[in-house]
Amino acid sequence: MFPKWFDKWNRDNPTDIYKPAILVGVAGGAVFAAAMVVAWGQPFKTDSLQTGPRGTGMSVPEFEADLAVPDPGIAGFLATTSAPVVPQGGERTAGAARDNVPPGLEGLTVENYDRLLAAMRDWTGIPDLFDDPASYQTSVGHVMIGMTQNLNENWAGHVNANKQVGVTCYTCHRGQPVPADIWYDLGDVAERMAGWSANQNMVTAQSQYTSLPSDALKTYLLDGEMIGVHDLDSRVAGVPGKDGYPGIQNAERTYSLMNYVSNSLGVNCLFCHNSRAFYDGAQVTPQWGTESLGIQMVLELNNDYLVPVGGLLPEDRLGPVKGDAPKVACKTCHKGYQQPLQGTNVIKDWPELATTSGEPDYGN
Ligand code: HEC
Ligand code: HEC
Ligand code: HEC
Repeated sequence: MFPKWFDKWNRDNPTDIYKPAILVGVAGGAVFAAAMVVAWGQPFKTDSLQTGPRGTGMSVPEFEADLAVPDPGIAGFLATTSAPVVPQGGERTAGAARDNVPPGLEGLTVENYDRLLAAMRDWTGIPDLFDDPASYQTSVGHVMIGMTQNLNENWAGHVNANKQVGVTCYTCHRGQPVPADIWYDLGDVAERMAGWSANQNMVTAQSQYTSLPSDALKTYLLDGEMIGVHDLDSRVAGVPGKDGYPGIQNAERTYSLMNYVSNSLGVNCLFCHNSRAFYDGAQVTPQWGTESLGIQMVLELNNDYLVPVGGLLPEDRLGPVKGDAPKVACKTCHKGYQQPLQGTNVIKDWPELATTSGEPDYGN
């Protein structure tokens, strides 16, 4: 293709074209990357929420790109919500006009009962919910209504901690009969071990994919055992792990729970603690208090509602290892966000679910 004299000249004067080619390539690539950053901005920009006083380094950084994407659940909820029909007095009640009305809802006007029923069916993904009085889903649904009303009425310190947010069936169910992010007792996860070693060193969802113990949710959010492990005396009076003094595994289990909490909310430890003093209730953030209340709330949810409901459920809904009832924890509502549905006020249109009294406040 080239003239002969060129081929000869080329053979006699060999040139290393690789080094210059690599150099040009690298330089060109760098110029391109720089041009992209100038044109589109830095892709890993973070935004941080300062949680503690200046100088303490207490902040929760997040990628701006992540913050810009809303929880897809918000759109799902907005598609199923509707404003209440403010009663004018004299309307027919659901109890008189409809069959199989769940206990406590008989006094609602027909319009409001019908919209609540339609919403509960959308929220749980059960199109004939409450049609069949003999169905276990009906019995469970009755308990769930009381549970949701109790959450909104008696746990406002948590579910309305910053502003009115509240919970509906959708907060947990998201259009599915069985909510995501529920948990069961896993029993001994390391089968070849016994006692102390049997519930750790196995990667499970409940250990947050670490080697920490897998029984933190059961121990703290069902059995209600003590989470704190710190002792401020330089010499602990007893022997750690004996006579009720927390031992190493208690500390590991506490960290297992704290990892779970952080991942459930999509935050780091500094959202609640000053890391120089994890134990010190005087150096924590307000969110620490909201969590403390959340722990009591989850204990009540599991012990007073979900464990009893387990007796109504068919076998295929029970735990694969121990046959125990499905249980809730932080992630069942939060789904990885600081506030469920990113703080969307879900209760404002549903006064029927905000009170156990059977007499919703429609603001009239
Ligand atoms: C705090 C979270 C939470 C809230 C809020 C909640 N549920 Fe549930 N619900 C659960 C859990 C956990 C289960 C057990 C899952 C299972 O059945 O295996 C459940 C089960 C059910 C079931 C049985 C489903 C099945 O097929 O097994 C029905 C029906 C139900 N809920 C209805 C409701 C209704 C109606 C509301 C609102 C009034 C509601 N739930 C609010 C957590 C919740
Ligand atoms: C959403 C708030 C929150 C987040 C996030 C959080 N914690 Fe906690 N932490 C608490 C609360 C509340 C307690 C007290 C629980 C109790 O004793 O009832 C606690 C207790 C502890 C304790 C026990 C302190 C003692 O007195 O012995 C340790 C250790 C701890 N957390 C470490 C962590 C670590 C490590 C992380 C991050 C992986 C973390 N926490 C994330 C709220 C939080
Ligand atoms: C029944 C649903 C539900 C469960 C279960 C739940 N939360 Fe919440 N949580 C909420 C709602 C709703 C809010 C929003 C309150 C607000 O911002 O006004 C909230 C807010 C919070 C906040 C305050 C966030 C902020 O921005 O100030 C913390 C911290 C928190 N939850 C921790 C927890 C922890 C830890 C658990 C588990 C032990 C838990 N929650 C379980 C519903 C729930």
